[in-house]
Amino acid sequence: TLARPDPADLLAWYDRHARRLPWRVPPDERAVGVVPDPYRVWLSEIMLQQTTVAAVKGYFEAFLARWPRLEDLAAAPRDDVMAAWAGLGYYSRARNLKACAEMVAERHGGRFPDDEAALRALPGIGAYTAAAIAAIAFDRPAVVVDGNVERIVTRLHAVETPLPEAKPEIRRLTEALAPPTRPGDFAQAMMDLGATICTPKRPACGLCPWQGSCAARAAGTQESYPRKTAK
Ligand code: ADE
Repeated sequence: TLARPDPADLLAWYDRHARRLPWRVPPDERAVGVVPDPYRVWLSEIMLQQTTVAAVKGYFEAFLARWPRLEDLAAAPRDDVMAAWAGLGYYSRARNLKACAEMVAERHGGRFPDDEAALRALPGIGAYTAAAIAAIAFDRPAVVVDGNVERIVTRLHAVETPLPEAKPEIRRLTEALAPPTRPGDFAQAMMDLGATICTPKRPACGLCPWQGSCAARAAGTQESYPRKTAK
């Protein structure tokens, strides 16, 4: 029988192997209750919506250097923001970024709201991004489900239901998997596990902190999850 996947094993792995990214708290400062600046979290999550980590890094640092605080971005000329975004694509994100900065500056006193519903009311912030910001910037126990999480969870539990029907089941299983503390680190640990170990092809199961808890690995069927409805 398989051991239950322990979230503490994932967090310990993250403490050692997390990707060092400019919007994250550095490893030696990471602890229960330590959160990064919401402005940085929001900016990174908007940039990462349809763009890879590698492409985002430089833009993130350029934006922060030029507009270090939310108020700076809110006050910036729209054309400057659009020009600085050039190359990242999906330009509605840049328009919403500027509108969101103005709205937070004017209606929220320059501070991002800390719950998912209020975050979702802001331009450019959908369900996924609201959950990510609530967990990462505000230590809220929000469930962040992206493609990485879907792959990890369906493999761990050998979920036979195909996507997209499996989404509610995956959400429940992810909630059950979450640790009692460090929701933002848990969310980002899942992203890193999916990006570096539990990859779509040829996952590196021998390096996985949950290798002893994975039903798909036990059966040797890890690459067949998540199941998808035949097209
Ligand atoms: N993709 C979306 N959000 C991310 C984050 N915080 N770290 C790495 N990849 C991400």
